[in-house]
Amino acid sequence: MVATDRAPYLLALRLAGRRVLIAGGGAVAARRVPALLDAGAEVVIVSPELSTVLHDLAAAGRLRWAARGYASGDCAGAWLVCACTDDPVVNAAVAADADAAGIWCVRADDAAASRALTPASGQSGDVRVGVLSGDPRRSAGIRDALIGALTSGAVGTRRVRRRGGVALVGGGPGDPGLITVRGRALLAEADVVVADRLVPRSLLAELPPDVEVIDAAKIPRGRAMAQEYINSVLVSRATAGRFVVRLKGGDPFVFGRGAEEVLACLRAGVPVTVVPGVSSAIAVPAAAGVPLTHRGLVQEFHVVSAHVPPGDSRSTVNWAALGSSRGTLVLLMATEHLAVIAAELIRGGRDPKSPVSVIADGTLPTQRDITSQLDAVARDAAEAGIRPPAVVVVGEVVTIAAQIAGLRGSPANGAAGDMFLPDAGRVHGNSPEWGNDLLRRPAQ
Ligand SMILES: C[S@@+](CC[C@H](N)C(=O)[O-])C[C@H]1O[C@@H](n2cnc3c(N)ncnc32)[C@H](O)[C@@H]1O
Repeated sequence: MVATDRAPYLLALRLAGRRVLIAGGGAVAARRVPALLDAGAEVVIVSPELSTVLHDLAAAGRLRWAARGYASGDCAGAWLVCACTDDPVVNAAVAADADAAGIWCVRADDAAASRALTPASGQSGDVRVGVLSGDPRRSAGIRDALIGALTSGAVGTRRVRRRGGVALVGGGPGDPGLITVRGRALLAEADVVVADRLVPRSLLAELPPDVEVIDAAKIPRGRAMAQEYINSVLVSRATAGRFVVRLKGGDPFVFGRGAEEVLACLRAGVPVTVVPGVSSAIAVPAAAGVPLTHRGLVQEFHVVSAHVPPGDSRSTVNWAALGSSRGTLVLLMATEHLAVIAAELIRGGRDPKSPVSVIADGTLPTQRDITSQLDAVARDAAEAGIRPPAVVVVGEVVTIAAQIAGLRGSPANGAAGDMFLPDAGRVHGNSPEWGNDLLRRPAQ
């Protein structure tokens, strides 16, 4: 009998190299095993069958599997036992054997009959959190809230500030919910934040007042000088012992000059880390319902910076090849040069009636998108007042967006609303026209 009238004693186990026996190989075991492997435990599973995930781990040599039912004596040599079968009688037998051998046992099916309990656990940076409340759902909710607070910096990560160093963090396309968890955690530790124009501004608003925020968009010099200045700020603040987050729009290495900043830091002996971000090249089309690939339709996409137009001596883009390709084209910084780009693609072989979507302010409450055709998109975008930042998508995938929008608006999906973003205030520039037949109509 397990006495449940006493509060359990909380403890953390260093399991590296220690055997952990798991009785059962189903979904419950599959949820426990990854964390045990992460802790370095030597996992042995006794079960006639294994779930696919566990099977893959066994095949990869990450754990040992005895393909049979639990037998008395299996607990020998283990430091921890988890009874995870779907048979309470077997779990009770496993727990009794472990108890008799002086080994801690977690019964997954019956917390009240369990000597050891697994808390809902999580990690933010170097802080581990474990919650026991008696109700697994409640524990998981509290754990999530604590991890969220730690990650956002609302609860004490800045106490353990890093000294010196730079982190290049991808801020995502604009919606503050689309920065990575790691990026958010590093931001919460920053002494200095050097922010680009297109980063989620609300993330900056949340920073404590003692964090120095340098708005890189406001540096009043030419492009080259501004970059030099940014590099020197990163290096000087970091060498003064401050932890600098260089917050960049989208992903730092996608048309973001991130590598130049990494090189500048490394040349100055400053440790630098890069946290990838959700690039607007992918996220902005997704926010408008445009997939970049679709089985049977297109299996490639090309992401192009069109900040200099076709024909410009600084352009390294092979527009003729893009014109003859059937792949989806994703064009960034293209709104200014849409007419010449479209003409060049058509000259290269693209159908003038190729569907095109232009999405401005993607993922933001002000998101707008228009749908057009290659030979009319420059005019349509101008008439709709589309302004940067915008992503242009050329290709048949744009028709899939129309299908998605049509189904989303159908009575069967009633209040499905916007499946990509919760923001209520967003306007689709051409929403009255969305429908499956849109792209079959000739451009006006
Ligand atoms: C200098 S590039 C930086 C790209 C960024 N590193 C990324 O991975 O998304 C800036 C261009 O990205 C695109 N862009 C970035 N954020 C956007 C957004 N929220 N909506 C539409 N386009 C966006 C626009 O084409 C903009 O001109």
